[in-house]
Amino acid sequence: MRIEFHDAGMAFEGRTALSPLTLAFEQTRLGVIGLNGSGKSTFARLAGGLIKPNSGRVLIDGLDSARDAAKVMGLCGFIFQNPANQIILPLVGDDIALGLKARGIKGAAVTAAVEAAAERLGITALLVRRPHELSGGELQLAALAAVLAVQPKLVIFDEPTNQLDLKNRAVVARTIEALPEQAMVISHDLELIAGFERVLVFHQGGLAFDGPAAEAIAHYRMLAA
Ligand SMILES: Nc1ncnc2c1ncn2[C@@H]1O[C@H](COP(=O)(O)OP(=O)(O)OP(=O)(O)O)[C@@H](O)[C@H]1O
Ligand SMILES: [Mg+2]
Repeated sequence: MRIEFHDAGMAFEGRTALSPLTLAFEQTRLGVIGLNGSGKSTFARLAGGLIKPNSGRVLIDGLDSARDAAKVMGLCGFIFQNPANQIILPLVGDDIALGLKARGIKGAAVTAAVEAAAERLGITALLVRRPHELSGGELQLAALAAVLAVQPKLVIFDEPTNQLDLKNRAVVARTIEALPEQAMVISHDLELIAGFERVLVFHQGGLAFDGPAAEAIAHYRMLAA
């Protein structure tokens, strides 16, 4: 899916979070890195249509995120840093089913789609568990299953490994790597995006670099020094 920013920018209470930006992407993988507060999450939320730009336009699959907001909803799935905030029902399986039902899917089709999503990520045993009993890595996979179940065209990961230990991090990293879906990965965990052909570096609300991972990481290190 193609996402286009046309002079799209965002300010909160008069303070610029993202300066007007023009770019397009449709790569299977897009990495986004930069210092804290540099505008990465704002960029991702605009790209996924969670928020509307207060200047310029964002086109998601040819649809204007402000004018066609209803059609844009559901094209992108978000995985946030803290999945505990994302899984709201008492059982993991019910939570995955919730998103499907919200899209009008009913009865046996819901059960089948929940099972298929869990099987894909190898978390079938987690369907009957309570989210608060799960490890951070298990929670991330459960949140991902809920997102994938509704078949988004683009999955946006906003720091998905931030709270994970090495073992869980490896599980989530491998899962992201193997996903056939188009994905945007925002991360301070540079290894996650190290193989990407295109990585954006944000700095002070603007795009500071756009290119292959190795050069992007070098640019980011320079900004951080
Ligand atoms: N909802 C909001 N209301 C007010 N200010 C916001 C809001 N969201 C972001 N900002 C501000 O916009 C700027 C960019 O924030 P953003 O969350 O995009 O940064 P980030 O690069 O994702 O940072 P981090 O690495 O810490 O997650 C920051 O100065 C932040 O305080
Ligand atoms: Mg952020």
